[in-house]
Amino acid sequence: MTSLTKSTKNFRNLGIGEVISWSEKNDGIKGETSSARFELTVFDEHTIRVQISQNDSFFPNPYSTVNTPKGVFSNIEENDSRQVWIKTSKIHLCVNLSPFFLTFQTPKGEIINQDDPAFAVSWLGTEVTNYKKVQKNEKFIGLGEKTGNLDRAGKAYTNWNTDYFAYGVEDDPLYMSIPFYIGIHNQLAYGIFFDNTHKSVFNFGASNNRFVYYSGEDGDMDYYFFHDDSVGKIISAYSDLTGKMEMPPLWSLGYQQCRYSYYPDSEITTLAQTFRDKDMPADVIYLDIHHMEKYKVFTFDGQKFPDPKSMIRTLKEKGFKVVVIMDPGIKTDKGYLPYDEGKEQDHFVKYPDGQIYEGQVWPGWCAFPDFTKPETRQWWAEKMAFYNEAGVDGYWTDMNEPASWGQFTPNLIDFNYEGEMVSHRKARNIYGFQMARSAMEGSLLQRPQERPFVLTRSGFSGIQRYAAAWTGDNVANEDHMMAGIRLVNSLGISGVAFAGYDVGGFAGEATKSLFARWMSIAVFSPLFRAHSMINSSDAEPWAFGEEVEEISRNYMKLRYKLLPTIYSSFYQSTKTGLPLSKSLAIDYPHDNKIYLTEFQNQYIFCDKILVAPVKSTKEITKVFLPEGDWYYMYNSQKHHGHQIIYQDCPLNYLPVYIKAGSILALQSDVSHTGEANDETLYLHIYKGNDKSVHIHYEDDGISHDYKDHGYFKREIEWDSSAERLTFKKPQGEFQSKYKKIKLYLHGNQKVGNAKIGEMTLTPKYENVAFLGKLTEFDPLPEHDHPYHEIKAAPSFVIEHSMEDFSIDFI
Ligand code: NOJ
Repeated sequence: MTSLTKSTKNFRNLGIGEVISWSEKNDGIKGETSSARFELTVFDEHTIRVQISQNDSFFPNPYSTVNTPKGVFSNIEENDSRQVWIKTSKIHLCVNLSPFFLTFQTPKGEIINQDDPAFAVSWLGTEVTNYKKVQKNEKFIGLGEKTGNLDRAGKAYTNWNTDYFAYGVEDDPLYMSIPFYIGIHNQLAYGIFFDNTHKSVFNFGASNNRFVYYSGEDGDMDYYFFHDDSVGKIISAYSDLTGKMEMPPLWSLGYQQCRYSYYPDSEITTLAQTFRDKDMPADVIYLDIHHMEKYKVFTFDGQKFPDPKSMIRTLKEKGFKVVVIMDPGIKTDKGYLPYDEGKEQDHFVKYPDGQIYEGQVWPGWCAFPDFTKPETRQWWAEKMAFYNEAGVDGYWTDMNEPASWGQFTPNLIDFNYEGEMVSHRKARNIYGFQMARSAMEGSLLQRPQERPFVLTRSGFSGIQRYAAAWTGDNVANEDHMMAGIRLVNSLGISGVAFAGYDVGGFAGEATKSLFARWMSIAVFSPLFRAHSMINSSDAEPWAFGEEVEEISRNYMKLRYKLLPTIYSSFYQSTKTGLPLSKSLAIDYPHDNKIYLTEFQNQYIFCDKILVAPVKSTKEITKVFLPEGDWYYMYNSQKHHGHQIIYQDCPLNYLPVYIKAGSILALQSDVSHTGEANDETLYLHIYKGNDKSVHIHYEDDGISHDYKDHGYFKREIEWDSSAERLTFKKPQGEFQSKYKKIKLYLHGNQKVGNAKIGEMTLTPKYENVAFLGKLTEFDPLPEHDHPYHEIKAAPSFVIEHSMEDFSIDFI
């Protein structure tokens, strides 16, 4: 007895102790405990901010969020059990006052998320941690660019932006940090965004069976808690807070070709011509670091590129856009204008004693612009006039973790951080984000009439406002191909809708089959860009022999055909914040099967296309079809959902299914996005059970006019049971590019005629192929080919009327 009492005395709770006082404030409460102060702020009915600090005031966190509290009604009351309740229509937050810990519940009283009462929010030195109880069978998804499984349970991750050449598929950390995850359990879901830019750790139950936690090396505990009735709504709430992407230029959704590096200029113009000669649609060519003189940003190598302007003009004539790389490191060469100017105007990161910090990158010793300083971002944006004058269209911000040889930047260097003056410990994770912001602002400054395109390697929560992301230096192997899909899907869960991976693998050499499969999968990636490393073999889609060339061509063409659907989906994403490439965990979070490693790579593209990625070595694969009915894309064979099927997957047929009830909008073949199509919109209509709505969206693809009515937006409602298709009156002032609409019906619809008012239309029965004609490379003869063609789909051609009208299939 005595010894028990004695040892009990040695137990200690951490946490911030008892609440000494609390009071209501605008949109929430504030208070003090024995060791900290706290504020709980209702942002809207599904978002509550939790701030806890040991200092007199909270740190401002100027970068990630764009939203302020909306002033929604919340009910605040203290009860007899020393608890304060803050209630919105979606979240009931219980603040336990003695000791301080939080419990988030639904209005029905179900526990969504709860602090570990003993530790709740605790400091160990400067390190601050929030410990949370694990709920039964809880799954964790998101956290941005993180390797590993879709369900992150049992693993821990670090957020510390890192240049990681040829990372392994389990390695961590990589280039970008997004401290936002979603927890899923008991038919419930919630999100947590820890807005702290210091190095942070998220532990989802690694090396313990008691709690999950997230820690920041320093700073406040400042997090947002989101709850709503679906994972999609939680992602939308997160993106309301951290911002959404704007419409990208249409050309950036086409095929992009990169290489470290194409040079000299003649190689690039030949490359462009080869795409056209080989009838492989493409839109973008990148200039990697060899375009520069001695790797000095804002220069062209005079030997390799004696006349960049005329080279870029030639590329434009062939329908290509040019994206140029920009690295942050500025060579410390006296007489090199960006260095002299940067030094004179105080744009570089410095040691606390005022000496400019230098680190080595491609150009040798470099100084680093302080992108956390507004004047420096402006200066860089102005310097981009150099590329704009040459005719460059887009910008690629690389090495912006920031990378330097040795990979160990000293922590004492100072950054402006919007005037706060902080060390590298707080600024590193935000640096790349602010460089991308400067590039985007520079693009707008240089070409105010055009939408910017910036591709970034590094970033932080909110990066989607400024740039698309790619997953850095991947490796040419099958596991990496699959890992890239999960990385992009995880970025999508974490607010970054526009993302991609280096098709073919950056490091190493892709086999023929790997390259072919990777191309077919990447057609269904928001960003479709191939890239490969210096000193590796050629890796253009024709470099792997004729069979791979044919498969690549077929799928590249499919990408371009699908652009009306993809573009409309990008538009939707600018409104909802939901990704183009949706892990099944977004729409089917409570189905345990989707987390199995064999199915975790599957995803839904553009809300209606189920993609089942499969290694190139496989000829048959298992596919999990979630609930609903699904049509195999190539021949419209219907499968019931909620089952596992075996699917043949020869190299030229990636398993892809269309969701029953969907409308898929296609255009005719074009060789690049600037080329006119045949002015017919091809709508493929798949029979389902209910009503569904497809939003068809168009605009000029390049200007900002869409923000001011310069769009064409039309709801098309498909009522499968009534067999009625209704075109609502278009909205916006943009003239549609389509004069005719051709409808194809899929799903054995017993169609006789179609009626539009008094007018009767008779169907034509046509064979439809989504992929090009088969050649001798196809293992099966055309006549008994099970994958290729939809036999005799009923089709109707109608005028693209601007009024609302319905078609009844009778
Ligand atoms: C590293 C990037 O990740 C890679 O894509 C690029 O080609 C090289 N830097 C050279 O610029």
